[in-house]
Amino acid sequence: MRTVDLIHKKRDGHPLTADEITYLIQGYVSGEIPDYQIAAWAMAVYFQGMTAEETAHLTMAMAASGDQIDLSDIQGVKVDKHSTGGVGDTTTLVLVPLVAAVGVPVAKMSGRGLGHTGGTIDKLESIPGFRVEQSRQSFLDQINRIGAAVISQTGDITPADKKLYALRDVTATVESIPLIASSIMSKKIASGADAMVLDVKTGQGAFMKTLDDAIALAQAMVDIGTEVGRETVAIISDMEQPLGRAIGNALEMREAIETLQGNGPADLLELCLKLGAHMMMLGGRASSEREARAKLEEAIRTGHALAKLKELVDAQGGDPTAIEQTELLPAAPHQLEVKAERSGFVHSMAAEEVGVAAMLLGAGRATKESAIDLAAGILLQKKPGDHVEAGEALAILHYSPSAAKDVDAVARRVQAAYDIRGEQPGKGHLIYAVVTKDGVRKLT
Ligand code: URA
Ligand code: CA
Repeated sequence: MRTVDLIHKKRDGHPLTADEITYLIQGYVSGEIPDYQIAAWAMAVYFQGMTAEETAHLTMAMAASGDQIDLSDIQGVKVDKHSTGGVGDTTTLVLVPLVAAVGVPVAKMSGRGLGHTGGTIDKLESIPGFRVEQSRQSFLDQINRIGAAVISQTGDITPADKKLYALRDVTATVESIPLIASSIMSKKIASGADAMVLDVKTGQGAFMKTLDDAIALAQAMVDIGTEVGRETVAIISDMEQPLGRAIGNALEMREAIETLQGNGPADLLELCLKLGAHMMMLGGRASSEREARAKLEEAIRTGHALAKLKELVDAQGGDPTAIEQTELLPAAPHQLEVKAERSGFVHSMAAEEVGVAAMLLGAGRATKESAIDLAAGILLQKKPGDHVEAGEALAILHYSPSAAKDVDAVARRVQAAYDIRGEQPGKGHLIYAVVTKDGVRKLT
């Protein structure tokens, strides 16, 4: 096989075979095929697209390029959840104990935050003592014992994706649906999932800005899952505004605890019930969404979900009393109210801007190497649809002395992120569609 012939074939719109794709991916990882040829192939894919079979072959070739986690020692169907990334997206912290409490085993490998989106690992580290590193064996043992474990990504998962993503980033080929879909799915498959629930965010604060693009990405990922025998369901959810009210690591941990206590924000709870219900159905723990929802709500009402979080924290070296006494979580010494300049209704808020503002306060990383402040972040007091009086607080900034010099600029940024108008806005949507192997079901 010659790489140039495969680029030629793709450029002219013909699908590559499984062997041809494997040849490209293996050659790229080993260094035999240079960046410039893979860049040319990626650009050909950008313009020509890929068939569902081709996308599945690419996914499996990338999944096979590094370590593959074997979860077969864990009893039951391992259902993973993945979010395409948003601002203040606290769902994983709620879902892991919630679905574990109703019998779905959760073997979660999570990442750290970068840029305006947060990471589950950083949020969990706000619990004093919580360890995010574990040996393979103790990870599996913990899941068999208590039904859940969350660790940071270890080992060498999908090196082909790492290398290809970095190349796409500098060759204007990130925005290709088959390349994005295979990138995300290869990591999940290499991490050992039997089935997946995907939360595909759409809107201003999301990677996919329009509903049509989000549905197309969801469909591509569901097709991959179907093609490779890992049933996949995607929920299309809103990221026109941050989810819940808290953005920042310890603040989101507290919000997750409140949600598990039954006192969380309605949008966060609703999305968790939706995602959790599909996780239960894929895991064979419920036969209908209604049954699943009832069980999840019961786990919250009875305190089982919160107890599961304490067990998880305890098993990973954290202090479980911090779950009851959240004043033991890191707290910022300074707070500043961002006040409304005019009275009216909040029409919209620029989610990404609020995410960037939280990052500037220290809650996120500008680059992979930046340090973060677990206590820093933003608590939203007003969200779209709310009425506000001039001078009333829109949001409260939580920050440490090291961020004090930037806080006025951040406050102006948050203020500018709010669009306040005289008339009341229409009601927004939280969940737009569910995509399964049977097709797209729109909910709006
Ligand atoms: N996220 C990923 O993991 N991969 C992509 O290609 C784009 C977003
Ligand atoms: Ca939140």
